[in-house]
Amino acid sequence: MNKINIGLIGYGNVGSGVVKLLQKKRKYIKAKHHVEFVLKTICDRSIKKKKIARGLKNVRLTASIEETIADPDLHVIIELIGGLHPAKDIILQSLKKNKHVVTANKEVIAHFGQLLFEEAHRQGQNIYFESAVMAGVPIIKLLSEGIAGNGYKEIYGIINGTCNYILSAMSQNEWSFEQAVKEAQKRGFAEADPTLDINGMDSTHKLAILTALAFNKFIKPNQIHTEGITQISHHDIEYAESLNLTIKLLAIAKQINGEIEARVHPTFIPKEHPLGSINGVYNAALLSADPLGDVLLSGEGAGQFAAASGVVSDLINLASRQGSDAHQLLSNLYIESPDVKLRKIDEVETRFYLRFKAPDQPGTLAKISGVLGRHGIGINSVTQKAHEERTASVPVIILTDDAKEKDVRKALAEIAKKNIIKAAPVAIRMENL
Ligand code: HSE
Repeated sequence: MNKINIGLIGYGNVGSGVVKLLQKKRKYIKAKHHVEFVLKTICDRSIKKKKIARGLKNVRLTASIEETIADPDLHVIIELIGGLHPAKDIILQSLKKNKHVVTANKEVIAHFGQLLFEEAHRQGQNIYFESAVMAGVPIIKLLSEGIAGNGYKEIYGIINGTCNYILSAMSQNEWSFEQAVKEAQKRGFAEADPTLDINGMDSTHKLAILTALAFNKFIKPNQIHTEGITQISHHDIEYAESLNLTIKLLAIAKQINGEIEARVHPTFIPKEHPLGSINGVYNAALLSADPLGDVLLSGEGAGQFAAASGVVSDLINLASRQGSDAHQLLSNLYIESPDVKLRKIDEVETRFYLRFKAPDQPGTLAKISGVLGRHGIGINSVTQKAHEERTASVPVIILTDDAKEKDVRKALAEIAKKNIIKAAPVAIRMENL
């Protein structure tokens, strides 16, 4: 029987879920995988205040990261504190102490993945990070091992459970944005600070990881054009409904003529597209792979047990790779393709949905369309709800033809500067899926 001694650093929502899952599945894992996981240490900076799960009498509880990592009995450190620091050092030090690492930390892998994988390689250890993207849904395993050898044209991901939950709840239950955020926090999907979820950065971290695996290129999160969902209103959701569309926060990576385009933003997509039916906390990734073709992977992408499931799978994988089989994980590759370049968002072309809060006065529409025309932006349709009496302002919705990001940005800035409208315009991209 293989015995793996574990040190767990970070006993929060996911950490306590991992402990519960290891306890609940102990017999099952032992019988099926012939491995016994021995939780030796739980380390948390507020360990004294934590309610520790029952049945952990022989587990050392400590607030000291150094002592935990220094323990020569431990085979693996599970890092579940999140954030960049001290997570990066915990991972580096653990590798240097000849321990494998399991982590669910998308931020640290997105920022420092290349450096960390190189160190893992140097130390003959591995970093397992299945839960970093789509929680327990095995997108890391799929990309790095399952369909190794394929090339990729496009990746479309719904990879933040909180945002997908909020957008679905606003559309299906007509909840306000604030109501939906609170519920996502209550259900344990949102980050401790949900800003990273709703401003799109959590999706950006995850997209940086997928891009490294798919295109062999480590893109820094700040090189990925990112927009969150805070500007989405019920007006936009209703308009999407009326056109049989839906709004999703999409993480998109495409390879076009040797250049990579990577962006995260709310997107109008057809309701009947497979990604249009991914609702609530569900995540999905649609990959167009060569030669395999389209692959769609979906499942619960956030939450205590969804994430704990990925961590436990990582542990079982780790246990199965002992001795001569313990060579470097394919997901830990750190040497980039030299000729892959990043495409600037300015050059990216999509259709746009534009919403203006326009004064209800003759000539307003002509002024808006005039500016768009001068910037070479073609108009596909214009909608303004019919009204009986004159009101101070009305929402005007314009759908454009394919337009370059930089032209749209300049046109909107000009419209705002000339005081043609009463509030900042809303621009949402439309993706032809
Ligand atoms: N806050 C994240 C989400 C958790 O909502 O998707 C999973 O990474």
